[in-house]
This record gives sequence, structure tokens and C-alpha cells, in this order.
Amino acid sequence: MREDPGNLTRREALRVAVTVGGAAGLSACLAIEDGSEESTDAERSPERTTEADAPSEPPDRQHAWNEFSGPDEYGNPVLPKHHVLILADYTADGPVDDADRTRAENAFRELEQAYDWSSTGLLFTVGYTPAYFDRYDDPLPESVDLPRPEALAPFEDPEFDTPDLLVHLSSDRASAVLEAERALFGDSETVNGHDVSETLEGFVERDDRRTGFIGPGLPAEHDDADGVPEDAVPEEAPLFMGFKSGFARNQATEDGVTIPDGPFAGGTTQHLSLIRTELEQWYNQDSREQRVAKMFSPTHAQEDLVEGVGETLGDSTRVEETGIAERVEDDAFERGVVGHTQKTARARDEDGNPRLLRRDFATVDGGQTGVHFLGLQASITDFVETREAMNGEDVANVGGVGTKNNNGILQYITVTRRGNYLVPPRSKRSFPRPR
Ligand code: HEM
Repeated sequence: MREDPGNLTRREALRVAVTVGGAAGLSACLAIEDGSEESTDAERSPERTTEADAPSEPPDRQHAWNEFSGPDEYGNPVLPKHHVLILADYTADGPVDDADRTRAENAFRELEQAYDWSSTGLLFTVGYTPAYFDRYDDPLPESVDLPRPEALAPFEDPEFDTPDLLVHLSSDRASAVLEAERALFGDSETVNGHDVSETLEGFVERDDRRTGFIGPGLPAEHDDADGVPEDAVPEEAPLFMGFKSGFARNQATEDGVTIPDGPFAGGTTQHLSLIRTELEQWYNQDSREQRVAKMFSPTHAQEDLVEGVGETLGDSTRVEETGIAERVEDDAFERGVVGHTQKTARARDEDGNPRLLRRDFATVDGGQTGVHFLGLQASITDFVETREAMNGEDVANVGGVGTKNNNGILQYITVTRRGNYLVPPRSKRSFPRPR
């Protein structure tokens, strides 16, 4: 991988700095953001200098991001550009100590006081694994569906993430995610100009750190990662596989993914997988028409519904209008290929709404391209059933479709890690008890 800082563009340099992290990454980010003439307003995080600047409290739903990030010109929520995922453990055995619970809550509140709750400031969630809840005698209530992670296709063999907690930090400003991480873990005395008094230092340890990015132009700038064919990723693509994703009408709403009752009402469940992508094959083996058929549906390819990276789709892939979800078997038989979107749309709920709120983003962690696929849903079963629909086992060996070949994008992706988390409502986000 080529990462000579002298040759990097400004955006590449920001991405590299987020990946590197630590004091060096942060000072590089600040220098780039402050020094660049191109630096945009979004990258100058609104500073909270006084308490009077602080807007009302962030919403009780930790996952309530949509109204604070975007929308684009078509009304689609836009995820912040930079992301850090921190998998961490509570260092003591057994239930969490009340004093530590309070310290953690104070540390999270300090981040909220330092940054605006928005994509130009900082948006974050804190989630907990089934392994974390094993610390307590009481089980989780029935209103929370949080099984241990498992393989979700006969052809995958992922490793499982079992830390206690996952902190997802995101912002349009690379330095904000780094500074927030450093403040949270006691590596910095200030955060966005505010003094840090409480941290997770001494009772929470980082286990793993993952990073990523999303937004028009970012993947094309990072085509120096292993396995990215030169000049193949479209200039405007927000993700490596070349298409826009996350259209408003192809996503569950924040209401739709919220746990409706029980002690964790207002929370949600989170599935995080690491998916590696085979871009050489994707871009070199297939024509654009085939890529559209495999990502969306053969109808999308035949009727030329996807221009460029998909801007012309507006806020929807037109699942209902085209009837593609009902045509999966016919398409396999008659056209020899089925699309990712048409298969996953079969898992919609009885009212025709998608069950996942996808907040995935691209990564080049480890020098390889991939996706940190982060899905929010009211129950992990919603994720599992959507993934089953995506597996398309029912059409494997129908017409020209194989287990993976011509079966959506399965041939080009490999899931290497999976983990499940409960994201409690904000009022219970600091080391919740199961009851
Ligand atoms: C590399 C991995 C993936 C890529 C590049 C990808 C890309 C896309 C794209 C471009 C769309 C259509 C536009 C949109 O609605 O956002 C889409 C739709 C969708 N994808 Fe994926 N996807 C990936 C993995 C997954 C996984 C692992 C799941 C979960 C099982 C999933 C679930 C969905 C769902 C539920 C929809 C919307 C279907 C509907 O309209 O009802 N995707 N994806």
C-alpha cells in the first residue's frame, strides 16, 4: 500500500490519519483541517465554548442521527464521513461497579458537551454484547432479542467479536473522531477546547480499533489499497462498489428499528460485520450492465434505471414500482442473474418497509478494501432474516444462478467477522444492568 504522506491528497491524508489514530493522527488531522484553503465549514467543528452554546440534550435514542446528519438534495440522510469503531472490555470480572458506571456516564456526557450533536460535531453510540450481559445473574428481558453472533450462510466462516462494548464515533471532521477517542480513553486533557475531567481510563481497555469513511469521492481517492483496480472506482462513488446506498425509502426508519417495550424501550440492536470485497473481480470480470443487474436487479439493467452512481434514483431504488422482489425466481430462471437489492427487499415487513437501518461505511483497514457493515434493527432476528433473503439459497442452481455466481454480490464479498450488540436508550447507555 502506498502511504507516503508526501504524495497523499488532502482527503487521503485525513483518512490515513484516522486509521493511524493517537496523538500523531490527531495532530496531522488538525494541521490538514486548519491549514487547508479548501477546508470546508463542515470540517471546522462548531466549538462549544460556553454552556450557553450547548443546545438541548441529545435525544434519548442513541441512534437518532437522521435529523442531525444531512439530508442530501433528495431527502436521504447522509452519514458522517469519518468513523471509528472501538471494541473494548471492562477490565474487572463480574458486574460493573456503580462508581465506574457513573464515571463512564460523565465521560460520555463530556463528549456531548464538547461537540454539537450533529455530523459536523460528533455523533456516537455505545452498545453492549451478549458476553457483557453474562456478567449479571439476571438474563436480558424477552423484549430484547440479542443472541450471540453466528455464521449466517453455509459458505461463510467468520470470527466472532465478543468484547463487552462497542463505541461508534462519527463526524464529518476527522479530527473530531480522533480527539473524542483520545478524550474518552484518557489520552487527552482537552476535547474541542473543553477540559476533560472524567474518562474510561483505568477500567475500560481497548481491544480493537476499526476505521472507515463514506462519501462521494472518498473511495476513489483510496484506490491505492490492495486489490483496487486502477481508475475503476467511479469518481463520485460514496462506496467502493461504485453505487450510492442508503436511499431513504430503502431503509427502515429510526422508529422502525426502535425496541418498542420493556426496560430497553427506545434502544435498538446493532449488528457489525467486517466484509472484505473483491474489487478486481467486480470491476474486471463484469460489465457495468452486469454490475447493475447484480447490485440492483436485471430489470434495473435492462431498463437503464441506474445512471452513474445512482443519483437519478432520488430517494428510492423503486422496489415496489418495478416489482423486482416478486421476480427473483423468474429472473434466475429467465435471465440467469438476480440482484442484491431485489433479494434483500424480500425481507421487508408486512407493511412493506425494510427492517434494517444500514449505516455501513467503507474501510481500508489492514490495507485491504472492505465494508464495516453496521445494521440497526429492532431485533437481531430482523438482521438474520434479511441476511437469509440476501443468501438467495432458494435460487442457487435455478437457471444460471449458482450459490454465489450471479447471485447478487455474493461472489465479491467475504464476511470475516460478526458481532451483535444492544444499543440501549441514552439514559441507560453506561454499563446497563439487564433488568
Ligand atoms: C459489500 C456489501 C454491501 C454493499 C456494497 C451493499 C450495497 C447495497 C446497495 C447499493 C443497495 C441498494 C441501494 C440502497 O437501498 O441502499 C442495497 C440495498 C440493501 N441492502 Fe445491501 N449492500 C451490502 C451488504 C448488505 C448486507 C450484508 C445486508 C444485510 C443482510 C444488506 C441489506 C440490504 C437491504 C435490506 C437493502 C434494501 C432492500 C430494500 O429496499 O428493501 N446489504 N445494498
